[in-house]
This record gives sequence, structure tokens and C-alpha cells, in this order.
Amino acid sequence: MTPWTYRNPVRVSFGWNALDGIADLLAGRAYALVTHPDPPLAPHVERLIARAGAPVAVVDQVQPNPSLAMLQGACQQLQVASQPAQVLVALGGGSVIDTAKFLAAGAGDWRSVADHLRDGAPLTTAALPILAIPTTAGTGSDVTRWATIWDPEHARKLSLARDDLYPEAVLVDPALTVALPWSVTLASGLDALSHALESLWNVNANPISRGLAVAAARDILAGLAGLRANIGDLDARERMSLGALRAGLAFSNTQTALAHNISYAITLEQGVAHGLACSFCLPDVMEAALGADLQCDAALAQIFGDLSEGSARLRAFLASMGVSTDFQDYGLTPERWLALVTEASEGPRGRNFIGALARFPFPSPAASSRAGVQA
Ligand SMILES: [Fe+2]
Repeated sequence: MTPWTYRNPVRVSFGWNALDGIADLLAGRAYALVTHPDPPLAPHVERLIARAGAPVAVVDQVQPNPSLAMLQGACQQLQVASQPAQVLVALGGGSVIDTAKFLAAGAGDWRSVADHLRDGAPLTTAALPILAIPTTAGTGSDVTRWATIWDPEHARKLSLARDDLYPEAVLVDPALTVALPWSVTLASGLDALSHALESLWNVNANPISRGLAVAAARDILAGLAGLRANIGDLDARERMSLGALRAGLAFSNTQTALAHNISYAITLEQGVAHGLACSFCLPDVMEAALGADLQCDAALAQIFGDLSEGSARLRAFLASMGVSTDFQDYGLTPERWLALVTEASEGPRGRNFIGALARFPFPSPAASSRAGVQA
């Protein structure tokens, strides 16, 4: 076996009311709060401030899919702090945590991080530490070293990646997810499922990441099914939080793969939410992955059973969640789909994929032309 390394330096605290541990983690340091302005988050913000004291700044103008333009405003909010922040507390979903990473990387200096992302200019200062408190079960950004930043003016997705952007600690508190509506629960949960599976059909997989990914996928499949049946199921909420954490720990070491690289163009071009864009094609990607690696096949069999029915089972699961697995339902023609998947396989995340496009279930030319006429 080729030597491998698993590394993740994030201190993890998990459990109901884990948020109450924030004061111990801060240890008296001045903090800036990064969060969403959404009213449902207000009780969590109040609880945080009751435990941690007042922040020196609040950055709350965070939007989904953080763009360079939005981040300029976020940096301005950080710069009006009553005193310099020694640490950032990110309370929210993936967009909030990724925004905190952008702020941390330049200590609030937008220009230096934007130039780094656009032109590769070096970042010369150490990042501010981050304490992450996810309010969804999905992103995994609370245990990774990178952030996804969007540059809609140039129709591109940028990746900020540095070792000092691993959060110092994460508090995973399922209580923060209890009031999430089904739509957010599903989209974030499917993102986590995609992280788990993408870390399996991945050239960077190792025995630790595989074990985490298998457990994560089982958690998420069971958790989503439980919450679909009963949105108030607290055991299912806990399982989703644990699954998202495990998936994050798995892909923190492998990165994602083909489905994520497919998703970025769909989010940019069609405005499809990330969790859906990176998961509707998972059964297709799984078909292309099967047979490429014995250890990956064995891991997928632990999740889906008999692999001759594996992708069909995943397709049926997504259908039971109300998620179409037909690319045409996401605004894509067969020609665009073929081009997009081919391009994605050649991109950085696509090259992580162990499978073969020859096994990818593209529609036949005849079906394509029929579908093209319908579209
Ligand atoms: Fe993702």
C-alpha cells in the first residue's frame, strides 16, 4: 500500500447545546461576529452574545454564494470594529463560514485577498483565527482549509485555500438546525451527501476518509428520510449534524470530485442552489465510478448494498426527496450537458475523480436529438 496521511487540525465539539462552550473557546479574546441577517438566526445570535459577551464588530451582510462585491461590504463592516478583532466567530451556513475565511485571510483587507484570488498575489499576513458554529447540516467548511468565492462578473468560481484557514475550533450544535425549513434541510443535506460520496470516488481517498465518508453517507440518507417523514425528528437532526461533520472531515483530506466540478457552471449559469447542483447527477457519476477501484466499490457497497442496483437506489432516494436526476430539469440541453461534464472532468476537482467518462450514462444521440427537439 502506498503511504498515506490523514490530517485535520480543527478542534471539534459536538452535541446539543455545544454552543454554550463558546466562552471557553474565546478565552477572553475580542471577537467579531460573522452571521446572516435572517430573523431565524436571531435567537442563536442572542444566545451566543449572552455566553460570549458583545462582539467588537458584527458582519451580517452575508449573501448566499459569497461574491467579491459582497465581500467588499463585509470587509467594511469588519473595519468599523470598536477595537481590532483577535478572532472571528462564524455563526451560519457555508456562505457565512466562507465569508469569515475571506475576512480572516486578509484581516479585513479586501484588496489583498481579492488580488490573491484573481492574480495569485501572495498573502503576506497570517490569517485571523476562526471559531465556526454551523447552523445548517451540510457545508463542511467548518472543518476545511478552503472557501468558495464567486466572481460573477467573470463567470467563475474561485477557491481560497490556505492551511491557516482551518477553523481553530468548531461547535456543532444540532439544536441550531431544529427550526430549519425542509428546503434548506434538503439542500444542505444533499451537499453533505455529495461531499461524502465525492470523497470516496476520489484519487485522494485513504482508509480514514473512507470510513468517515461511509458513516457520513449512512447518517445523511437516514437523517433526510427521517426528516422528510417528520421535520420535528430530533434524532434525525442529530444524525444530519453528525453526518455533515463526518463528510466534512472526509473531504477535508480528499477535496471533492466530478459532481462538484459539474455543479459550479450550473450554479453560475442557471442559478441552481449548490446543494442541488452538486447532487442531482450523483447517480450518473456513481455509474462512471463503479469498477474503477476495489476499495471504492467496497465502500459504496456498505452504503447502497448490491452495486448492480447502487445507482438506481441512489436515484430512487433522490426521487423520494423530490429531486429530479434529469439534467434537462436544470435548464441544460443534451449538448450543453455533454460539454459541461466533459469540461468538468478536465478541471481540478474533475481530475480527482477515479471513474471513466466512457461509463458515464450520457443520453444516446437519438434520445439527445429527441430531447433537444422537446427543449
Ligand atoms: Fe459542496
